[in-house]
Amino acid sequence: MSILHQDVKEVLVSEAAIIERCKELGHIVNDFYRDYERMPLLVAILKGSIPFLSELMKHIDLDIEIDFMDVSSYEGTESIGDVRIIKDLNQSIKGLPILLVEDIVDTGRTIQEVKRLLFNKGASEVKIITLLDKPSRRLIDIDADFVGFEIPNEFVIGFGLDFNEKYRNLPYVGILKDEFYK
Ligand code: IMP
Ligand code: MG
Repeated sequence: MSILHQDVKEVLVSEAAIIERCKELGHIVNDFYRDYERMPLLVAILKGSIPFLSELMKHIDLDIEIDFMDVSSYEGTESIGDVRIIKDLNQSIKGLPILLVEDIVDTGRTIQEVKRLLFNKGASEVKIITLLDKPSRRLIDIDADFVGFEIPNEFVIGFGLDFNEKYRNLPYVGILKDEFYK
């Protein structure tokens, strides 16, 4: 058995299912923005959303551009505080519709704060697309506009999602064996 796969207890979303769903989401995005005057800028949140963005954007048949942001929560704050910007956008987004690309919506804090940031920068609209959604963990009253898969309250890894920065390169979404989460 290969090195990474043997740490996985269960595959929650297979590679084939992700690829198929990204194709469907691409078509949904095409339909949604078809009549917009300005095409959306896809803003992907580093690093977890990279594999999702790569798979999704192949199926978006619109004149879009992409950009990246990296944010982190302030250490030791459990409050609904600001997020710290580690890498900001390369361009102005004044008047632009934004499609925010996330790996997972958990408590909802990240997308709430990033959405606020993007509106402060002058975005005309912010929609959210996420590969995974864990609605049972939500602490903030916010939802993604487009969701790949709803998953149960489990800590997952793979297809961009990490555990201590590892396992992002697994081609599927899975749950690690219990001993690794200690
Ligand atoms: P939120 O701000 O609580 O919604 O959390 C969003 C961020 O937490 C995601 O972008 C991930 O980086 C991380 N996260 C939440 N749940 C998981 C998980 O099950 N596995 C890996 N990372 C997660
Ligand atoms: Mg993330």
